[in-house]
Amino acid sequence: MVKLIRFFAPRGLRVERAQGQYVWDADGRRYLDFHTGNGACFLGHLNPYVVRRLREQLEKVMVLPPLYDSGILDEAMDALGRILPHQLGNVFFQNSGSEAVELALKLARKRTRRVKLVAFTGSFHGRTFGALSVTFNKTYREGYDPFPFEVEFLPFNEVDQIEKIGEDVAAVILEPVQGEGGLTVARPEFLREVERRCRDVGAFLVVDEVQSGFGRTGSVWAHSESGVRADMLVAGKSIGGGFPVSFVAVTDEVASRVEDGEHGSTHGGNPLALAALTGGVEALRGDNVPERAGYAGSLLADGLKEVASQNPKVVRGVKGKGLMLGLDLRFSPSQVIKELQSRGLLTLKAGTTVLRLLPPYVVTEEDIGLSVQLIDSVLRSYRDDLSRR
Ligand SMILES: Cc1ncc(COP(=O)(O)O)c(C=O)c1O
Repeated sequence: MVKLIRFFAPRGLRVERAQGQYVWDADGRRYLDFHTGNGACFLGHLNPYVVRRLREQLEKVMVLPPLYDSGILDEAMDALGRILPHQLGNVFFQNSGSEAVELALKLARKRTRRVKLVAFTGSFHGRTFGALSVTFNKTYREGYDPFPFEVEFLPFNEVDQIEKIGEDVAAVILEPVQGEGGLTVARPEFLREVERRCRDVGAFLVVDEVQSGFGRTGSVWAHSESGVRADMLVAGKSIGGGFPVSFVAVTDEVASRVEDGEHGSTHGGNPLALAALTGGVEALRGDNVPERAGYAGSLLADGLKEVASQNPKVVRGVKGKGLMLGLDLRFSPSQVIKELQSRGLLTLKAGTTVLRLLPPYVVTEEDIGLSVQLIDSVLRSYRDDLSRR
């Protein structure tokens, strides 16, 4: 029998079906899903807008490179035009976040002829070689060096370090809310200073919204709130309602120098992916997803703050924004994640100590109340017994 390489310990849960904010196991037991496929299912499982578009597209054409014109390509471009920042009017489709990051880095290198990149402590941009080179966590990097870029990691959110970005830098890449690294939110003045410095030294500003984007933090794009204008925006995960699709959106300046055959992708821009993306944008706009995520996020954050104040020996504080939230624990959350799963709540880890919650926007007040109660009851059992961990 062929063995699956998982790279992570299996969760010990066999999922039979999923709908909205829930999944069910083989015995019909329901779980509240705050893991959402590492955040890819922010629109909820089987989002009706996305499913309708996918069904319609399956009746038409399933394989067609975007070299050919098609109705779904027109619709996807039109949909993106309604949600992308104005200066980012050019897109290339990929399949995963890492691939899209990779393309942004390739473009930055070729356009500037510089090999140096700046990224930040706590960053996560993916696991392909270019994306890994700008990913901070040692666990993911170990054994894979040397990397194809020279990378300097500056301390995240430290404005006085930004002058270190020099004229030899091709691009600066950052997440407006660090996902994998521990749910640290970028301060608006930090983002604005990075943008200013990029302009001064002629480096591209690449904003990676693979996890934070598409309404999750309460805005369509988390970085836009600070007024920052990116040269390249990378998106993935939730944009296709869980269907694999990603893109890089770039300025006219970056796009105008694209050469024939310089880049390509067999599956990038697949008609089903474009259909899922079109349905995703319809959901985002039709269901007021950013507003709903902002409201649900504030309820969940209030609940988590209460848990933190009740359990100070166990919890350092609440992190994140919108529906990208976490509790920073005083120890690894791995065992807590297992205990929550056994009680019906699926969560994940961020950084080394953060219990990460990535609920879909369809989450209800009742779900939020239940999740807070479950987290509180698990953490209470740790309060007086930290030594057993
Ligand atoms: C901010 C960010 N960038 C890039 C990636 C990589 O995306 P993918 O796993 O789809 O390659 C991730 C995945 O977690 C991410 O959170």
